Amino acid sequence: MKSVLVVNQLFKRFGALVASDHVCLELRSGEIHALIGPNGAGKSTLIHLLSGTMQSDGGSIQLNGRDISAMSAHQRVAAGLSRSYQITNIFKNMSVLENLLLAVQAHAGSSFRFWAPRSEDSALLQKAQALAEQCAIEQALWNRPAGTLPHGEQRKIEFALALAAKPSVLLLDEPMAGMGPDETLRLTALIESLRGRMSMLLVEHDMEAVFRLADRISVLVYGRIIATGTPEEIRMDPAVREAYLGEQT
Ligand SMILES: Nc1ncnc2c1ncn2[C@@H]1O[C@H](COP(=O)(O)OP(=O)(O)O)[C@@H](O)[C@H]1O
Ligand SMILES: [Mg+2]
Repeated sequence: MKSVLVVNQLFKRFGALVASDHVCLELRSGEIHALIGPNGAGKSTLIHLLSGTMQSDGGSIQLNGRDISAMSAHQRVAAGLSRSYQITNIFKNMSVLENLLLAVQAHAGSSFRFWAPRSEDSALLQKAQALAEQCAIEQALWNRPAGTLPHGEQRKIEFALALAAKPSVLLLDEPMAGMGPDETLRLTALIESLRGRMSMLLVEHDMEAVFRLADRISVLVYGRIIATGTPEEIRMDPAVREAYLGEQT
């Protein structure tokens, strides 16, 4: 099967601490790949290295056959690698739809007629509305200032902003963190609805969500991938049980 993202021997140290210890990882086309492991294992560090918000000390990252290791975070987004942040990207005073319009515009390229009033550019507006629908943001909320929406709804906006870039790979670092059970279920359904449209690397502590969503799972312990496999393979893996899952299940 085709690999969209190929991570080879990725290395990162903080002083004496090796946070990413020659990590090798492949994301297949359209798969939801979960990354699990104990606190401090290096999951967020890996997400930072992939998104380009942190520089690695060695190794390489290929996206669709192209080496992106030297690219900035913005260049990686343009190349097809997006990351959903936890609300930090939303303009709180702008409406939901205005936020989405800006994101759609930013990725529309040179065909965008920048002198046209935003709301009158119907093609862009349609795209923004389609994104809102895709992310299950209720229409009654579209014209409200984004900052006034409940936490879970703002997470959906973050998701929509990441999708506006039409990524081939979406990175998600603990998207369910701080969410109640209902919101977690809704977000799980949203991620599920995107299965097959892009590859996702999902860092998540909620094991129920992980085992429900993931096509494959990689387990990171002390900066090292100790196993990669299907949920069933990971559940049965003795090394994984000893290092991590045994304490949870
Ligand atoms: N900017 C940093 N400077 C120094 N140490 C860091 C930094 N970021 C993370 N670390 C350390 O690297 C290790 C991995 O952290 P992190 O990637 O956040 O783990 P996880 O997301 O799996 O909980 C931890 O020991 C953490 O303290
Ligand atoms: Mg983390």
